[in-house]
Amino acid sequence: MQYIPFSPVEIVFSSRIDAIKYLDGVVSANETCLLLASEGRILELGLESLIDNLREKDVVHLRQIPRNPDITDVYHYLKVLQGVNPCKIIAIGGGSCIDLAKAISALYYQIPSEQLSVELVRKVIKEKKYLSQHPFIDIIAVPTTAGTGSEVTKWATIWDMTSKEKFSIESVDIFPKVALIVPEFTSSMPERLTLSSGLDALSHAMEAFWANRRTPLSQLLALKAIEHIKNYLPQVLQKPSDVCLRREMSLASLLAGLAFSITRTTACHSISYPLTMYCGVDHGFAAAMTLIQVAELNEMVLDDMHRIYSIFGSKASLKQWLGEISLPIQELRLSAFGINKSELDIIARNAFTQGRMDNNPVPFSQKEVYDILLQVL
Ligand SMILES: [Fe+2]
Repeated sequence: MQYIPFSPVEIVFSSRIDAIKYLDGVVSANETCLLLASEGRILELGLESLIDNLREKDVVHLRQIPRNPDITDVYHYLKVLQGVNPCKIIAIGGGSCIDLAKAISALYYQIPSEQLSVELVRKVIKEKKYLSQHPFIDIIAVPTTAGTGSEVTKWATIWDMTSKEKFSIESVDIFPKVALIVPEFTSSMPERLTLSSGLDALSHAMEAFWANRRTPLSQLLALKAIEHIKNYLPQVLQKPSDVCLRREMSLASLLAGLAFSITRTTACHSISYPLTMYCGVDHGFAAAMTLIQVAELNEMVLDDMHRIYSIFGSKASLKQWLGEISLPIQELRLSAFGINKSELDIIARNAFTQGRMDNNPVPFSQKEVYDILLQVL
């Protein structure tokens, strides 16, 4: 019998000053720590002196964080880190940074240095060989966006741009040990990232609400997250430097993350993966693009969708809210990303991620996914 905890993550909300003190003291003597934080992010957050202090200790700093980490990125960092033997990873960044930390945690002590190759990294991830007994590296996740939820989940998305596949590393051992939530760290997010990460959180929450694996707890967490996003995302876009508003969006993202840590995501995320893979659509926009269409289809089998709609007033108001919040920054239509009708087939064909699409309460055929895409063209 395998017992899977709801959440073993120590969740800490912190001010910037306390977070810096905590991070400064988190590396003990006689241990090697890995720091994942991009150079640009460090400058934006004004963390240069913290990084200088950490560098005086036994800390190896990876400063280039790829967007949507790929198998070859994971290989590259495992190669760079050969002989380092870290026992802790501090990941300061968005979902890509935290997911990369999880991949390193799962694979570092699994793959013997002398055997390391891109092919073996692909095989270990694809065939879930990382689940065999071996040490994982503890992760302290410090999200600098409000939306990923990766700081409280046990999975990481790793892409394979060569074979056009998307993999999920999944293990209770990659739950971060600590999620250090510092709303001030999200204040420097540009408008577009604030919107796309907020819409990612909205997608996590709505999908956790209707997922086949939904529970009364996941639904309550999801509804609270949706209510927060509805109230605070428009405000934070108006006043991006308001830390109180940023705190509310960090909380919304956390609630949504906890909700889908119970359920996993569903059809919207499953359809989003080829949109990102083939067309480069930002993850949050790709996930939110089909929310309305999937919600309407799910109404066929669910009798409580009104609990989501009533937060906005009605289903029509939800649709209007999504349109109004997005349009000035990024219209949520495929054509707005340069995608045309001839590309819908390949997107529909690749929209069936196991564990996500089959977690949707209404099963979709490829033709139905095509029709959903046509509606958002
Ligand atoms: Fe997501």
